[in-house]
Amino acid sequence: MAIFPMTRLRRLRANPGIRKLVRETQVTTQNLVMPIFIRPGKKQKREIKTMPGIFQLSPDLALKECEQLLKSGISSVLLFGIPESKDAMAHSGYAEDGIVQQSLKLIKSELPEMLLICDVCMCDYTDHGHCGVVKEENGQKIIANDPSLEILSHIAGSFARAGADVIAPSDMMDGRVQVIRDELDAAGFKHLPIMSYAVKYASSFYGPFREALENQPKFGDRKSYQMDPANSREAILEAKQDLAEAADILMVKPALPYLDIISKLREQFSVPLAAYQVSGEYSMIKFAAKHGAGNEETMVMESWTAIKRAGADIIISYFARDYAKSL
Ligand code: PBG
Repeated sequence: MAIFPMTRLRRLRANPGIRKLVRETQVTTQNLVMPIFIRPGKKQKREIKTMPGIFQLSPDLALKECEQLLKSGISSVLLFGIPESKDAMAHSGYAEDGIVQQSLKLIKSELPEMLLICDVCMCDYTDHGHCGVVKEENGQKIIANDPSLEILSHIAGSFARAGADVIAPSDMMDGRVQVIRDELDAAGFKHLPIMSYAVKYASSFYGPFREALENQPKFGDRKSYQMDPANSREAILEAKQDLAEAADILMVKPALPYLDIISKLREQFSVPLAAYQVSGEYSMIKFAAKHGAGNEETMVMESWTAIKRAGADIIISYFARDYAKSL
């Protein structure tokens, strides 16, 4: 490579035309997934205080939201349910008429072209707020891995029967992709892909989500099942495990603080990669912009570009609805 003054790297930055021509990374609406929180009722729309602009919606309004999304070019949503009732074993998660099941049937029948991805976890449906079964061991409460697997597979099977297009387990129990795959195959859903939250860190950036889903753990934290933010080699082990269990798509979560992990997975694996720009990442940009610390639109565009540049194919983002038009 020649050096300055023969080489001038600024030549390719001089105007919008040349910048566009040499741009390496392009985010499109096809890369985006919009999360939706669904609560029981009709015409219910409750804003989440820590996530201005994001709402819990009843199924009828979730359907309206999907119509809007399709118009703006977004055809994938990630569904979360806030059930009528919660218990220790997450029964409402696999009720025939559960909140997600109802919504799946409604949206599928009205908008068959919408891709419905379902978050599969116990914490949406447990009164203790943990992602697995709570057991007492030597006088201590623990989140028991193996007993949780059957329940997770019930939830996944139930979503599949109600019309889910993609099953996305987010619980971080060991072995759950395998039991879910077995359940889906046995129930006649061999074709349904699993998007595994393979690399999910025990992150402080999930704070606003727990208000959105009303699933703050009643005791302890999630560090015995979600990953330690300090670990990067372990991300490869998690990804390999889930691939061995036949996960079709791998996810890294959160996104921006973990770009190194996305890039590492991109180098090692050929399956599609998703990255979840989580609730705290949304609120960080939202509140910064609200207080005049930056331009919301350009911060969103830059964050999406960075996530894609790091190697993600799919971006799950609460900004998807409002900024699809900017792409
Ligand atoms: C449920 C789940 C969580 C998120 C997605 N699925 C919360 C958690 O694990 O504590 C976080 C999403 C967000 O913060 O936007 N297991």
